[in-house]
Amino acid sequence: MGYRVAVVGATGAVGREILKTLAERGFPVSEVAAVASARSAGQEVSFGDKSVLKVKNLDTFDFAGWDIGLFSPGASVSAVHAPRAAAAGCLVIDNTSQFRMEHDVPLVVPEVNPEALRRIRRGIVANPNCSTIQMVVALKPLHDRFRVRRVVVSTYQSVSGAGKEGMDELWAQSRAMYVNDPVTAQEFTKPIAFNCIPHIDKFMEDGSTKEEWKMAVETRKILGSDILVQATCVRVPVFIGHSESVTVEFEQPVTASDARAILREAPGVVVMDTRDDGGYITPADCAGEDAVFVSRVRRDPTVEHGLSFWCVSDNLRKGAALNAVQIAEVVVAQGLLKQAA
Ligand SMILES: NC(=O)c1ccc[n+]([C@@H]2O[C@H](COP(=O)([O-])OP(=O)(O)OC[C@H]3O[C@@H](n4cnc5c(N)ncnc54)[C@H](OP(=O)(O)O)[C@@H]3O)[C@@H](O)[C@H]2O)c1
Repeated sequence: MGYRVAVVGATGAVGREILKTLAERGFPVSEVAAVASARSAGQEVSFGDKSVLKVKNLDTFDFAGWDIGLFSPGASVSAVHAPRAAAAGCLVIDNTSQFRMEHDVPLVVPEVNPEALRRIRRGIVANPNCSTIQMVVALKPLHDRFRVRRVVVSTYQSVSGAGKEGMDELWAQSRAMYVNDPVTAQEFTKPIAFNCIPHIDKFMEDGSTKEEWKMAVETRKILGSDILVQATCVRVPVFIGHSESVTVEFEQPVTASDARAILREAPGVVVMDTRDDGGYITPADCAGEDAVFVSRVRRDPTVEHGLSFWCVSDNLRKGAALNAVQIAEVVVAQGLLKQAA
């Protein structure tokens, strides 16, 4: 049996990766629609190696008869069109931040909390923020065994997290610096080429940024309401792949070797940690890969039950497209599509 799947935001960094992931994983489709803004209606995007799809205009796209909508058109656009799609009977899996913290919208990482998919109330499922996804995939097996009390995380987030315009800006600025052209910043608040910017999304009243707030509240929604999270989110001049330095305080005693052994068995995690030159994963290694990679696992001796590790993943794949397609796979495998309608 095949499903009619609409990919909304299909011309963007995430949308193109969703089309690629659907084809690579052989998701059972009977028809796929590529949908974006009026600006790109009529353009062509690839679906797998052989098919090319003509982009349709979201404003006039009728979701009646479509089974699943994989959305990544930006929060304000999802705010309008995801409820419209859901009302037409199309289950929306939304990559934007629009619905993540709404109490009646499940926020799902299939390796971590697939059971939340049993509570689809509004025909919408939310994909967490890319930085949250990779962190909770690594934390979940450790939480099950040692109970996480507090997390301190610093992120090193690639420019593709800001979409295709973000990637273009790093490319243009890097080139401009080499040929001595003026460098202009548009997508980011300062030049990103050869730089690091400790500012992603807008500032909140308490001095944190919204990206940092998202990591805290989304982690609590997914893993448990009493976990404390302090995040510092930084944009770095890397095209693809987010890295995180994570330090965790547990309730139970923990050793690095136990943690490594547990992570080795965990779904979606690959441990690469040999404590010699190159015995760890970098973002350049993880681009195009599905896993969340964990390296540098070690005790944090400054607290009673502390552990530090380094965690890297492709933000366009596990941080967005792959996670969304995995949600669709669970929904289909567990027969939840009809219940959601
Ligand atoms: N990049 C990541 O790592 C990542 C990870 C998780 C979540 N997300 C979220 O996913 C969303 C998209 O991110 P992205 O990186 O793919 O951005 P992007 O590369 O800028 O792509 C944006 C997509 O949205 C479409 N779009 C914009 N305005 C639209 C409108 N009014 N109507 C219909 N389509 C519209 C664009 O179509 P046109 O080409 O026609 O303008 C394009 O297809 C954002 O909400 C982002 O926060 C991104």
